[in-house]
This record gives sequence, structure tokens and C-alpha cells, in this order.
Amino acid sequence: MKESVGETMMKCVIPAAGFGTRFLPMTKNSPKEMLPLVDKPAIQYVIEEAVDSGINDILIITGRGKRAIEDHFDIAFELEYILKDNKDEKKLREIRKIAELADIHYVRQKQQLGLGHAVLCAEKHVGTQPFAVLLGDDIVFSTTPCTKQLIQQYNKHKVSIIAVEPVPDTHIHTYGVIKYDDPIDDKLYPIVDLVEKPTKEQAPSNLGILGRYILTPAIFDCIRNTKPGYGGEIQLTDALKELLKEEPIYAYEFYGTRYDLGNKMDWLKTTIDVALMRQEFREELLEFLKQKITS
Ligand code: G1P
Repeated sequence: MKESVGETMMKCVIPAAGFGTRFLPMTKNSPKEMLPLVDKPAIQYVIEEAVDSGINDILIITGRGKRAIEDHFDIAFELEYILKDNKDEKKLREIRKIAELADIHYVRQKQQLGLGHAVLCAEKHVGTQPFAVLLGDDIVFSTTPCTKQLIQQYNKHKVSIIAVEPVPDTHIHTYGVIKYDDPIDDKLYPIVDLVEKPTKEQAPSNLGILGRYILTPAIFDCIRNTKPGYGGEIQLTDALKELLKEEPIYAYEFYGTRYDLGNKMDWLKTTIDVALMRQEFREELLEFLKQKITS
């Protein structure tokens, strides 16, 4: 069933304009979002989550050197012609399905001024309805897609909802972290403050912000009023702090397993885990890993 906002379907925004410096040299000339997880680019998992959550209108915020993303979600005429000629119906269906996944739009972020600024680039497309933001560094596997869980919470409470999860002390400095009040409901907390990338000592809790948000359109004015923060960038977390002065924001501890693609080691671990989920690779890969451990 499609998740709706009143009469309109919810739109989603996927920021994908970053330089991907944590993956150099691979990302010198290729988008980080196209890094493969077994046989699909990372961004396809994110788009599939949005589609499985009932979202059909997707805006990808791109930048210089990101053409491969647009090509991936477009029709590949020559390839389809060859597959048709080879009577490879299975691959043909698979390839065609990617181009038909959703209604995908693109807007370019001309300057890399931060995540908040990237979200602001979506204002014209999003208009005056609440919308979802999905970050490509986070992949979530769950029976009910993470974004759908957030939309369900939004539909109940009609306030911005942010996905969070407990984060170990050793990693807290890589997240936006929330300070919260007593739970309103199972796994739902009113946010009282947010800090982007705090030190272990500064962190107001152990609940880190995951890359899934449902935001009300009031966030756009808040971003405009946000000065550069951590790393000299306009941070979405700081804009949410502004929004908190005007409206409540709830944090939701989602159900599911989240995989981080933020750096090379995390990507390696995620790749292995995703491959182990696939029946066709599982046994041979496990055998290979066992041999590596004992050799
Ligand atoms: C961004 C957000 C941060 C959030 C994180 C989740 O940081 O700014 O608040 O916790 O995504 O992945 P980034 O990882 O892009 O530096």
C-alpha cells in the first residue's frame, strides 16, 4: 500500500553530491553511491527502500561527476537490444526493472556546502509537504522498511521524525547525537537537543542519528538560517536544532539492521555480510573465510 501525506504521496530526497573522499582513489572519477554491494550499486538499495515504503517520487541531489547514477536508472537501449538478441529474458527483465523503479528526478548542488545545504536544494521540488530524506551511507534491512516505519510514525504524530540507534562510545563522534526526554511511545522519544559529531564527553546520549528522516517543510527556512557548523559545513543537524525552537521533533529507534557504508572498512564488512545473505554465495564464501582464518 502507498504511504500518503493527505492527498499527495510523500516525496523523498537522496543527497548524493559529496566527493566521497573517504573512498579515494576509487571515487576520483566515479560516484561513491555507485560502489557495489555484491551486484547492485549502494544507491539502488536506498531507492528500493524508498519504493518499498510507498514512495514513487525521488529527487537525487547530484553534483559534478555523478552522471553514472543517472545512467544506471535510465533505459540502456544497446544493452537491452543485445540481451533480447541473446534471448536472455531474465537479465532483460532485471535491467528494465531498474529503469522502471520510480519517478527519479535530479537537481545539482553546485557547491559542496554540507548536508543541510544539499537538502535545501530540494526545496522547489518538495514544495510545502513533509518529505523523507535518505542518506546513501546507511543501508537498512528490515521486514518493514525503515522509511516506512518513519512514515507510519509521521502519520500518527504529524511531526518531523528522525531514525536513531544506540551507538558505542568509540563511534559516537561520527554521528549527530540527540538528547531526549521520557519516551512518548514504544521506541519514540521527544528530542530536546541535537549535537553534530560530539566528542565522547560532549555526547548528550548514546542515540546516534541514522540517515533516515521525515521532515516538515519548515526545515527549509531553518536551513537558510543555519550558519556553517562542524567541518565548516551547513549541517542538517544544526538546522534541526533551529526547527526544534518552532516544532517538536521525535526520534524513533527503528526495527532492523543497519549497515554503514561510510568508510572502506565498513564497506568491506557490509559487502561480506550482504553476500552471506545470498544463498548462491553463502557456503562457498564461508568456506573461504574459514580457510583464511586458519591459514
Ligand atoms: C550525516 C549526518 C549525521 C548522521 C550521519 C548518519 O553525517 O550529518 O548527523 O549521524 O550522517 O550516517 P555524515 O556521515 O554524512 O558525515
